[in-house]
Amino acid sequence: MAILLDGKALAKKIRIKVKSKVSKMPSPPGLAVVIVGDDPASRFYVDNKKKDCVKCGIVSHEFALPENVCEDKLMTLIHELNHRHDIHGILVQTPLPHGLNTQKIIQAISSNKDVDAFHMLNAGRVLYGEYGFVPCTPEGVITMLDHYNIDIKGKHAVVVGASNIVGKPMAMMLLHHHATVTVCHIHTVDLASFTRMADILVCAVGKINLITADMVKPGAVVIDVGINPKSDGTICGDVDFEAVSQVASYISPVPGGVGPMTRAILMQNTANAADMLN
Ligand code: GUN
Repeated sequence: MAILLDGKALAKKIRIKVKSKVSKMPSPPGLAVVIVGDDPASRFYVDNKKKDCVKCGIVSHEFALPENVCEDKLMTLIHELNHRHDIHGILVQTPLPHGLNTQKIIQAISSNKDVDAFHMLNAGRVLYGEYGFVPCTPEGVITMLDHYNIDIKGKHAVVVGASNIVGKPMAMMLLHHHATVTVCHIHTVDLASFTRMADILVCAVGKINLITADMVKPGAVVIDVGINPKSDGTICGDVDFEAVSQVASYISPVPGGVGPMTRAILMQNTANAADMLN
């Protein structure tokens, strides 16, 4: 039976550290959270991030804009936030409604306030291993592996999913920790033949039960980044948790795994942003 990677408990420890750092600052860090439209999942994520801000002594400023907001108005808001001295971090919750150019808006965020690390400059820094802001989910995964003393060096890490937000930076960061990395994606033929080779398997796709027990090498470390809504209102990951727990050595649950870690790293990035900008 696999050991549970308790992201909820570890995230709490990180928040305590962030709170302590923030308490020594002359004024609290400010995080601008921009949400466009009324997508329930985005609302849920944003509300959780705001709750974490309160726990860390960070002031969250929500900017909720209607679904039909014009791009110019959103760009104007970003430019204003870039110049505000009480705002140290800016995040625009994605996905944005159709018709808005997500890349244009994200790239308008000052790279010094880009606490999600979505800006090309910060993404490029990840490639070079010279981190500015760290991408929250991949850093959350690395922090979790480190906390549980799981060695990455020399291991074969398989990342399923090649998004700009998770899969690609995850692969790069595992590479910097000296893993041999394979990235699988939607066009990968015979996914199981790759996942079965993984010492460390990270799945970030968004498909319930994508990873079944027969796809996992006995003793592998399995990290589930998926967040999938279920009909009963709860969420689950991409991994068949019950069955894979019987095969893996460590496994992260959903909820209570990578999700809270992602938000804790966001808090850490916001405190670091305030440190740099003040
Ligand atoms: N959409 C899904 N995950 C994220 C995230 O970490 N940050 C933002 N801004 N949007 C997201």
